[in-house]
Amino acid sequence: MLWRLWASPNGINRYKHGQESWALVTGASDGIGKACVPFLPASSVAKALAQKGFHVLLHGRNPTKLTAVRSELAAECPNAQFEIVVADATKSALAREVAEACKGRTVTILVNNAGYTSTLIQPLETQDYDAVQRGIDIGCSWTTQLTRALLPQLRADAPAAVVNVGSYVARHPPPFLAVYAGTKGYMLAFSRALRTELALLSPSPISVQYHEIHSVATKANGSPVSLAAPHPDVMARAIIVAIGRDKEYVTPYWVHELTSWVLRVLPERVVARMAGGILQGQRTDIKRGEGEEAGGVGE
Ligand SMILES: NC(=O)c1ccc[n+]([C@@H]2O[C@H](COP(=O)([O-])OP(=O)(O)OC[C@H]3O[C@@H](n4cnc5c(N)ncnc54)[C@H](OP(=O)(O)O)[C@@H]3O)[C@@H](O)[C@H]2O)c1
Repeated sequence: MLWRLWASPNGINRYKHGQESWALVTGASDGIGKACVPFLPASSVAKALAQKGFHVLLHGRNPTKLTAVRSELAAECPNAQFEIVVADATKSALAREVAEACKGRTVTILVNNAGYTSTLIQPLETQDYDAVQRGIDIGCSWTTQLTRALLPQLRADAPAAVVNVGSYVARHPPPFLAVYAGTKGYMLAFSRALRTELALLSPSPISVQYHEIHSVATKANGSPVSLAAPHPDVMARAIIVAIGRDKEYVTPYWVHELTSWVLRVLPERVVARMAGGILQGQRTDIKRGEGEEAGGVGE
């Protein structure tokens, strides 16, 4: 928490080299990658990066949606350039094509944001095999292969940063979200190992960060905006500040960090029981009465 006292929104400028530094944001067509609540000022990690003077490669799977996001961002940030890269993140073989699309630009930031967004809250044994595979593909394979493919360029353009958008479920894996929690746990171990590895190998620094995110009021989450579940705009700004701070493991949003502290002092079985109680009531495999809201991702 104290790191906030020294954190500057301009810390991210260490990854800006000249006028032509690019950031690649995966899953930039919605949610945290791109804010989705139309009646609030639109912002996103992509827009926040553009406001800091970066050009942004917007990755997603839906060209129509991405084109609309690009037009919107271009109108709001006329000094920045935006390009779109279309690839289905459940097909990790396409990761190399995305890295290829980055060639010829100075790419200094990779934000691995695309995540498992249609999470089913239900026992593993009732889940569709293909849905389980898609969760692992996007949460583990895609991010790993894209990072692998982009590393030579990030090294050439260093100082550079790899930012992995994670979740508190990596530390407190809840029941009924085993696959999602497993992918975020994988990302945490991957981030830590890679950070150490790059520090040992690379003559120029490439920072690797894991961002612990809790509930954010995206469409995928379904929660209304609250102090505990901020608008993606607020989350995006917190992420940008945290990128500049270059910590290995960071909880960018202050309320999430407070919650994280509480979760860490409680016995793990108490946390698991609490999460189990909440998620039991949100199970997507149990039909509930009309008018009841279905549970979203939000973890
Ligand atoms: N929201 C939360 O409460 C929360 C909490 C903890 C962690 N997180 C993490 O934060 C990240 C973003 O979550 P979010 O809530 O912003 O999600 P979101 O609103 O569903 O947005 C996800 C983005 O990823 C894209 N995407 C999904 N599947 C894809 C695929 N197969 N190929 C290419 N792009 C794909 C989506 O594209 P489309 O527009 O085409 O759907 C969208 O741009 C995820 O890693 C998530 O695990 C979120």
